[in-house]
Amino acid sequence: MAKDAVSVELECTRNPEYRDVDGGSVADNVPEEPEGKPYADAEYTQIQPYAGMPKEVLLLHSSKARYRVTREILFWLMVACTLALVTLTVTVIALSPRCLNWWQVSPVYQVYLQSFSDSDGDGVGDLKGLHEQLDHFQYLNIKSVWLSPFYRSPMRDSGYDVEDFGAIDPLFGTMNDFEELLAKMHSIGLKLIMDFIPNHTSDRHRWFNLSRATDPHYKDYYVWSDCNGSAPRPNNWLSVFGGSAWTYDEVRGQCYLHQFFKEQPELNFRNPHVRKEMTDIIHFWLGKGVDGFRMGSVKHLLEAAHLRDEPQVDPNKAPETVVSEGDLYHDHTISQLGLHDLLRDWRAQMEAYSREPGRYRFMVTESYDYKEVDKTMMYYGTSLVKESDFPFNFYLLDLPQNTSGLWVQHLVQLWMDNMPEGQWANWLVGNHDQPRIASTAGQPYIRVINMLLLTLPGTPTTYYGEEIGMENINVTDSQAQDPAGKYNASASRDPQRSPMQWSGDMNAGFNNKTNTTWLPVHPDYSSINVEVQKEDEGSVLAQYRFLNTLRQSELTLQRGWFCSVHSDANVFSYLRELDGLDRAFLMVLNFGKEPAVTDLSSVAGLPDQLTVLKSTNQVSDGKAVQKSRILTEAGEGLVIQYSTDTRFHPNHLEQCYVSEKACYLSFVDILYKC
Ligand code: GLC
Repeated sequence: MAKDAVSVELECTRNPEYRDVDGGSVADNVPEEPEGKPYADAEYTQIQPYAGMPKEVLLLHSSKARYRVTREILFWLMVACTLALVTLTVTVIALSPRCLNWWQVSPVYQVYLQSFSDSDGDGVGDLKGLHEQLDHFQYLNIKSVWLSPFYRSPMRDSGYDVEDFGAIDPLFGTMNDFEELLAKMHSIGLKLIMDFIPNHTSDRHRWFNLSRATDPHYKDYYVWSDCNGSAPRPNNWLSVFGGSAWTYDEVRGQCYLHQFFKEQPELNFRNPHVRKEMTDIIHFWLGKGVDGFRMGSVKHLLEAAHLRDEPQVDPNKAPETVVSEGDLYHDHTISQLGLHDLLRDWRAQMEAYSREPGRYRFMVTESYDYKEVDKTMMYYGTSLVKESDFPFNFYLLDLPQNTSGLWVQHLVQLWMDNMPEGQWANWLVGNHDQPRIASTAGQPYIRVINMLLLTLPGTPTTYYGEEIGMENINVTDSQAQDPAGKYNASASRDPQRSPMQWSGDMNAGFNNKTNTTWLPVHPDYSSINVEVQKEDEGSVLAQYRFLNTLRQSELTLQRGWFCSVHSDANVFSYLRELDGLDRAFLMVLNFGKEPAVTDLSSVAGLPDQLTVLKSTNQVSDGKAVQKSRILTEAGEGLVIQYSTDTRFHPNHLEQCYVSEKACYLSFVDILYKC
């Protein structure tokens, strides 16, 4: 058998066509096979290798120096290239600044569902209505939408009183409507942030009914305490909306705690079952694909277990006249120890869903801490333990108190000076709980305020209608919806919740089927609406859209340095710049009541002659200005784009801030850590 095999192979090796370098054929070089003896290995080495030659023969050639050396050179070259590639990759990764995430790139737009768009003509906005208006976000270049609550609810507090965390209220539609909306939003690159309301439930929630009936599993789901005819309140704690925070429950014969309306009993987060329920709800909605949560009322999550009275702000006031939130120091009802552990745990649950590329789940917390800004900053977490991506920045809500450049600079600086290093800022001037900025600051200031929000570093938040300058409505007693107005009419939140003004049609285009709207439409809707403003290049809407697009297309505005350069009774001026990029931006914003001339000749790197890129007064667009004499009208804002080789921040670090340092390398078009 061996002999036969060899003779077959030899047939193959004798290729009569092969010519070696001297031009002889293989057949000439191959000796005849001796009788009964296979060819010796040495004899094959005479033959030059060629494709199709058997392995044994090739192996003999492969050990020759010319092949071996070439092979080794190639091998080490490959090793060197691989190592170089790995080193390059590691270096690029190490030097690359973090990519901005979706919640940093686009403003967060707050949709107050009841008032956004009503598809079925019942007077209340709904999920299908929102679905029909998604192109509004695309028009504005908005990618993140925060949607107010749509859980099943008796709507005592506009959906913030949840009866079932896993169901959609029929007023807003069905679970199917929600799923279709979310799928559509994702398919066009929109993210959906939903409200998460862990602090309390509705008094109609199944858990509360079981708790008041002292069901063994549920009896401690809420905060209960003894009270009776002689001691009707367990302590002096007050509701945010005024009056005692305790209500007697006839069924259980005890008082339950509610820091908001009496129909919103406080959950007891010291009970592990309650914590588990809340985690399950987070998983339920993340599993459905929502992109993040706005965690409401978080500072109220825990209360001191000892239930001692809180100190009065004015100790001389008669206790029975102490009825409003501001009358007490809330030492035992807000920001209690353990609160951040709860949030960190929820954050950890969310992280598990954030690992898929592009599916980062975002968390923002709502906590009004007023003068105690350090308390707000704690919601950022620490460098080791993550919490919210940012806590809402409520400090610009104070802007109308004193419209001056100095004041606005103070409010901006308040956040910048206190924010932990490397964190991301955010800015808002309104939400469903606050009067509209166009009414409090005044319509002439809405453009300059939007300009501020869209050019500061960080994520702007836009409450629906701010992009067109919507104002508060007047609500008569018979039209009132918000029970918060009961103790104090000025506390009613109805004025800022009126239907979105889409067009000059019936009901401002909010619905087109009936005359009903749950709150009245603002009478100015025929001039202040989306349709009209789309046609007007100088409108609030057009300016919003321009600046938002600019913000997202300019690296400097997205992640560059912010440096405050000037402030006075009228003007607040700051610049944005990035190392390595010659293009920079200067903002000169007049929040005052007078026209102003601003002299910025001392600002190094700023060219003497400047050109206005965008003014809130359209007529100034493209105008040339001298840096020593920049004129602004009251309520006017200028965005000036300029070119420079000199950076301002290296010599003025105390006036400047950047979230993460990054430098631009123009010839390869990359950013690196510097
Ligand atoms: C949140 C909401 C507010 C609501 C409160 C109580 O703070 O923003 O509208 O009234 O929670 O549920």
